[in-house]
Amino acid sequence: MRIPIIAGNWKMNTTVAEAESLVREMKPRLEAVAGVERVLCPPFVSLASVAALLRGSSVKLGAQNLYHEDKGAFTGEISPLMLAGLCQYVIVGHSERRKYFGEDNAAVNRKAQAARRAGLVPIVCVGETLAENEAGRTREVIVGQVQGSLAGLEGPLVVAYEPVWAIGTGRAATAAQANATIGLIRRTLAALFGAARAQELPIQYGGSVTGANIAEFIAQPEIDGALVGGASLRAGDFIAIVEQTARLKGVR
Ligand code: 13P
Repeated sequence: MRIPIIAGNWKMNTTVAEAESLVREMKPRLEAVAGVERVLCPPFVSLASVAALLRGSSVKLGAQNLYHEDKGAFTGEISPLMLAGLCQYVIVGHSERRKYFGEDNAAVNRKAQAARRAGLVPIVCVGETLAENEAGRTREVIVGQVQGSLAGLEGPLVVAYEPVWAIGTGRAATAAQANATIGLIRRTLAALFGAARAQELPIQYGGSVTGANIAEFIAQPEIDGALVGGASLRAGDFIAIVEQTARLKGVR
C-alpha cells in the first residue's frame, strides 16, 4: 500500500518571516491529518526556522534543490550534508531547474544519488514541454527522463510527473491523461528496478493542482499524491488538498 504524499513547492516565494507565518497558520490542520505524508518545501534560507517550528511534528520538510558534492569550493551551492540535518526530502530535476539552470538528466541523477547518500528522499521531477507534447513525443521524453534521472538509485524516492505546460498555467492535465503517463512512468520504473519496487514507489502529479481539482487526480489508481506550487502558498487551499487526499486515499 503506497502512502499518498502531498508536497508544497513554494519556489522562490516567501521571506523568512512570511515562511514562518505560513507554517504557523497551516501546521495545526496539517498535523490533524493522518494517512498522508505532508511535506513543505520552503526556500533554503527558511529551512532552519521552519525546521524549528516543525520539530516533533508529523509534517515533514524538504528543500527545492541541492548540489551533488558534499563540500568544497562551489560558491553559492548547498550540499546534501548541509540539508541532511535539517530536512527529510529534496526536490530534484524540477522543470524550472532544467529550463533556467541547464540541468540535464545526468545532473539530476547526480543530485538524486547525492541526496540518497545523505539519507534524504529525492522527489525527482519529470515532464514534457508543450512542444514535445504537441509533437507526440511525450512517451519518448518521459521514458528518457525517468531512465536518465533515476538510474541506479536505491532506497526510498518519490517521482513527480509535472507536464511543463500545466505548471503555473491554470491548465492542469486531465486526470485521465495524468494517470496514463504516470502508468507509463511506473512501467519504466519496473523495467529499471523490478515490478515489486515499482509498485511501492509513490508517483505524484504536479501542475495547477488546487483544492478544486485534487479529488479528480487522487481518484486515479496510479496517482499517489501531488506536488503543489501556487496553491501551496495559500494555507486554506493547501489544507484542502491534504484533507481531500486523506479522505479519498489516506492509509490507515
Ligand atoms: P503550480 O501548482 O503552481 O502549477 O506548480 C506546480 C509545480 O511546479 C510544483 O513543483
